[in-house]
Amino acid sequence: LGNGLALTPPMGWNDWNSFGCNVSESLVEQTADLIVSSGMKDAGYQYVNIDDCWMSSNRDAGGNLVPDPAKFPDGISGTAAYVHSKGLKLGIYESAGTATCAGYPGSLNHEQADANSFASWGVDYLKYDNCNNQGIPAQTRYTAMRDALAKTGRPIVYSLCNWGQESVWTWGAGVGNLWRTTGDISANFGSMLSNFHNTVGLASSAGPGGWNDPDMLEVGNGMSFTEDRAEMSLWAEMAAPLISGTDLRKATTATLSLYTNKDVIAVDQDSLGKAGREIASSGGADVLAKPLANGDVAVALFNENSSAQTISTSASAIGIGSASSYKLNNLWSHVLTSTSGSISASVPGHGVVLYRVSAGSGSSVGSAHRFLGASSGR
Ligand code: DGJ
Repeated sequence: LGNGLALTPPMGWNDWNSFGCNVSESLVEQTADLIVSSGMKDAGYQYVNIDDCWMSSNRDAGGNLVPDPAKFPDGISGTAAYVHSKGLKLGIYESAGTATCAGYPGSLNHEQADANSFASWGVDYLKYDNCNNQGIPAQTRYTAMRDALAKTGRPIVYSLCNWGQESVWTWGAGVGNLWRTTGDISANFGSMLSNFHNTVGLASSAGPGGWNDPDMLEVGNGMSFTEDRAEMSLWAEMAAPLISGTDLRKATTATLSLYTNKDVIAVDQDSLGKAGREIASSGGADVLAKPLANGDVAVALFNENSSAQTISTSASAIGIGSASSYKLNNLWSHVLTSTSGSISASVPGHGVVLYRVSAGSGSSVGSAHRFLGASSGR
C-alpha cells in the first residue's frame, strides 16, 4: 500500500498465539518493557500488537468501540502512551465483519468511526480479521477500512488478515501493507512447513510497502530449537513480517538469541525488498535465494526431512554476479568460509543453514568486519 509505511516487513509482537483472549494493558506494558530489556527493540522489533478480545461487548451510545475497562483500565490511549514512551508503537485488532472471531463488535459498516477511534487513541497498526464477513467480497470490505484509515491522517500500518482467501496476494499490495497468505499457524513443524509451502511461491507479490504474511513466529512456543531456527530463517528469507507470538516473560536466552540475530534480521529487512525464491526443491531438500541490496544473496538450505542430509547449490544457480571466489557467512554459526562456486552444507533434520553469499572479497561490510574481528584475536 502506498501509504509510505512498512517499506521493510513489520517487526513486533502479538499476544494471540500465547494468550488468546487473555490480553490486558498490564500484559502489553510488561511486554513492551521486555522488548526493550531483551534487546529486541535494538534488533528492530517495534510494534506491540493487541489481538482479539480487547473491547467491551457493546458499542457506546454514540456507536463507538469501548475498550474493556477491566482489561484496559487506562484505555487503549493510556496503553498507547506507555508503549510510545518506550520508543515502541502500538497495534490493535478488529474484524471486517459484524463481529470479531471471539464475538466482539466488528467494524463492518463502522469503518470510519472505528478508524477515527484508533487514530485518536494513538494506534499505529491495525490487524483486520475476516470473521463474520456476511459473504461480502474481501476486497470491498478491506478497501473500505483502507480508505477510512487514510482519512484519519494518522500513519497506521494496515494488516489484512483474510487467511489467504480470494487470492489476496493478487490485490493486497493496493489495499494493505501485509496480507496473511494462510490460515492460523500453530507451534509445530508441520504447521510451520505448510505455511512456508503456501507462501514461498508468492515471492513476486512482495515488495516495499506490501508483504506476504505467513503468520506469526512460533519461536519459543514448543518447536525444537532447530525448528525454531528454521522458522526464523525461512521467514527472513521470504521477507515475511517478524511478529513474535511468544510469552516474552518466559523466553529463554536461547529463544531470544534466535529473535535477535541481527544478521538474520538484516536479510529480512534488506532494503531491496525482494522475497527469496525457491530455486530448487526435491526429496525434502529446498534451496532458496534472496537477492540483497548490496549484491549479496541470502541462501537458505532447508531440510524438510527428519534426518540430516547434505544440500548443495552453486553460485551460478543463486544468481550472484560471477567472481573467482565467494565468501559464505553462515548467519547462525558466524563461521566464514570461501568457495569458488559450490555452496553446500550438512543440514540437520527440520533445519536450515542460512548463508549470506558475497562475490569476491570485501564486498560485504558485515563480513569484512567479522574478518577483522577474527584476525585481531590472533
Ligand atoms: C483469526 C486470526 O487469523 C488469528 O490470528 C487471530 O487474530 C484470531 N482470529 C483472533 O480471534
